[in-house]
Amino acid sequence: MFQMIDFDTIDLLAPAPQGEPMRQYYFIAGLRKWVQDREKALGRKLTFQCRTFGCQMNAKDSEKFAGMLEEMGFVSSEEEATDLIVYNTCTVRENANQRVYGHLGNLKTIKKKHPKMMIAMCGCMMQEPDVVEKLKKSYPFIDIIFGTHNIFKFPELIQERIDTGRMVVDIWDGTDMIVENLPSERKYSFKSGVNITYGCNNFCSYCIVPYVRGRERSRKPEDIIKEVKELAKDGVTEVMLLGQNVNSYGKNLETPMSFSALLEEIEKIDGIERIRFMTSHPKDLSPELIQVMANSKKICRHFHLPLQSGSSRVLKVMNRRYTKERYLELVNHLREAMPDISLTTDIIVGFPGETEEDFLETMDVVEKARFDSAYTFIYSKRTGTPAAAMEDQVPEEVIKDRFDRLLKLVGTISHERTKRWEGQTLPVLVEEKNRQLPDYVTGRLEYNTVVHFPGDESLIGKIVNVHLTEAKGFYYMGEMEG
Ligand code: 5AD
Ligand code: SF4
Repeated sequence: MFQMIDFDTIDLLAPAPQGEPMRQYYFIAGLRKWVQDREKALGRKLTFQCRTFGCQMNAKDSEKFAGMLEEMGFVSSEEEATDLIVYNTCTVRENANQRVYGHLGNLKTIKKKHPKMMIAMCGCMMQEPDVVEKLKKSYPFIDIIFGTHNIFKFPELIQERIDTGRMVVDIWDGTDMIVENLPSERKYSFKSGVNITYGCNNFCSYCIVPYVRGRERSRKPEDIIKEVKELAKDGVTEVMLLGQNVNSYGKNLETPMSFSALLEEIEKIDGIERIRFMTSHPKDLSPELIQVMANSKKICRHFHLPLQSGSSRVLKVMNRRYTKERYLELVNHLREAMPDISLTTDIIVGFPGETEEDFLETMDVVEKARFDSAYTFIYSKRTGTPAAAMEDQVPEEVIKDRFDRLLKLVGTISHERTKRWEGQTLPVLVEEKNRQLPDYVTGRLEYNTVVHFPGDESLIGKIVNVHLTEAKGFYYMGEMEG
């Protein structure tokens, strides 16, 4: 967590320190002066925008970029033309990449009108050499390109761009560094993501994440606990512990610690009322974790457990290291320990070699596990992964047909599951003003289901009891009680 630093006391005549994060504090301090000078010259504030693609990890990284930029003196803006724009990209599926190229086309036009605008590209896409080559060649108006391993260097890279006047490209192949105490902004005042692990060691055969996010590293428990305590002091009531595979947390620490032990420590922190985590890998889901969850008053009864496929044969080729039966067994353990738990999942349709029989196994798991909701994805070929080189890619029309059938089944079950609380009164953490209905607010049950009900802004961040009047598909309409 960020400790308030008095940047104005940093000696800019001294050379930049070598250690982190002191080195970046030094560059932030220098950029504060630069921003002030530009403000004077322009007679206005300098603005920034951060566009985020992909998962919660990227959202969290973007909060760090925003935090650093705000310390430099930039203010956040929604306007099309800003002084600095950050594109925090995702490459888990091809369509995310295409969207970024689409945006870059627009940016070219904007930059022609505002040549001083600075464009920074970062995130998972930048860890792919082909992408960086394409950007350098076809989008020379980009100012800074950096990757997932050196996000902490953002201030230094901005300074380098200003000093050299040339495109700055800094991509690392990997790192074992974890830089703590970077400034960070929070999108919500009452909830926050907290990184616990970075990277992934699993190498599921379809997935590019281990190549672009590097090997798994766990943050030290004391750093995590300190951050959560500071968040709680600052009014945060809900934390979401983030990692590609939170269940393997702590295995490689100098003093190993299990994920369930970490949860027990976080449970003790006053002020934190809801604890969530994302994402779990079924192969590492331990009986202790289920016990800790069942005994906890704070861990939300919601488990996101990616299935990917219901066919044991496909799971093997995917390198998932569990079978259909094992997955269903875990679902049963979770449900036995916590009958009210809500279960969500990720499913990929059309993995190479997936037959109709394989697909029917997936449908069978969906029927048996009765997911509260499922994110369904069409298999996307990611260059460099083992699956991309597999020969029997499934034809598009076959995938489309399976995808539609799966979506229908998932939807039907999800509607039935959502209905289960209808007529009851349950605690809701209010998150925001309703985007469509005036005088309504929107919040979530611990089960992660969305609830809309009449209320005003003063409720945001509070946990209130709401009568769940009517289930509408995936969400509820309700009335607040006393
Ligand atoms: N194609 C389709 N979906 C994928 N995912 C990861 N890689 C791919 C891919 N190549 C999905 C998985 C994962 C989620 C975050 O994205 O279901 O759980
Ligand atoms: Fe990708 Fe598998 Fe790691 Fe998840 S566990 S990030 S799907 S390699």
